[in-house]
Amino acid sequence: MRITIEKAAELLNAGEVVAVPTETVYGLAASLKYPQAISQVFSLKGRPSNNPLIVHLSSSADLSRYAHNFPPHTFELTKIFWPGPLTLVLPAIIEIIPETVRARLPTAAFRVPSHPMAQKLLSLTGPLVMPSANLSGSPSATDPMHVEADFGVDFPVVDGGSCTQGVESTILCWQAGKWVIARLGALAPESFFSVLGYCPQVVDTKQGAKSPICPGQLYRHYAPKAHLILTKRTPDNCQGVLIGFSDRHYPGGCRLLSLGDSQIPEQAAERLYAVLRQLDQEGIAEAWVDVDLPDEGLWLTLKERLSKAALDF
Ligand code: TXA
Ligand code: MG
Repeated sequence: MRITIEKAAELLNAGEVVAVPTETVYGLAASLKYPQAISQVFSLKGRPSNNPLIVHLSSSADLSRYAHNFPPHTFELTKIFWPGPLTLVLPAIIEIIPETVRARLPTAAFRVPSHPMAQKLLSLTGPLVMPSANLSGSPSATDPMHVEADFGVDFPVVDGGSCTQGVESTILCWQAGKWVIARLGALAPESFFSVLGYCPQVVDTKQGAKSPICPGQLYRHYAPKAHLILTKRTPDNCQGVLIGFSDRHYPGGCRLLSLGDSQIPEQAAERLYAVLRQLDQEGIAEAWVDVDLPDEGLWLTLKERLSKAALDF
């Protein structure tokens, strides 16, 4: 059910859950003030309780009310990248951020989204927790139709059309005296060089599995029901469906689901989840994926999402 921003604010301020567009992906929003609504977000998604949520704020000026003991460069990062697709994991003021949101960690994740509808809504509701608006494990939602496919046509959604970035925010954590990337996202590692003087490393999430730096990274993610076969060289006898690029030539027998131009990673990011979802909509059991892509910039995020989507747990 498509609802206005005013209706969404009314529902959120009454302790209900609604879906909201952001510049990255749609979020399943609940007010920080309603523990019951926060629990409902976990149960609607089928999300494990040890996977914490991101707190979305309307402005970086609010940050000091919810976090403290800021690591170096925190405010340089917020000044340059907020509002926008950056999430910062910071020491939380634990009296204010409920334990369920933090999954009992001493830290919490924060983001100020730039989407005008998300901004407007936050100004009417105050802080909102918002995981991606998809069933846990499935591809994220970048269109109201994706939200409806997962939660039903009666689920309240603010219709902001398709998300422009198309992949989730980049998550930075402070670890052993440096910022590290806990989740690759819409901002490439190179984006942070000018502020930090170094490119933050991507942490290996499997390494510290007992106390993972970013718990969500341990779970099955972004995966369609279809089995994906990642390849750098599409076999000549390739039949069936191939996820690839409009400017490349593939063997004649396969049907191309295009991620756009292979020189424009932003285009591929914008289309990624819609293409993965299309496989399931059409009941496709298997697809090849062309991953002959550079090891840099936004391509790193896309390749990480595709590798996770291809995992059979
Ligand atoms: O772009 C986005 O970030 C979207 C939109 C809706 O804002 N949200 C999103 O939320 O991707 P979600 O719940 O799908 O992913 C949040 C990630 C999870 O991997 C979680 O483990 C991590 O953030 N996270 C949250 N709090 C954390 C914390 N205190 N320490 C480390 N990781 C944390
Ligand atoms: Mg998610």
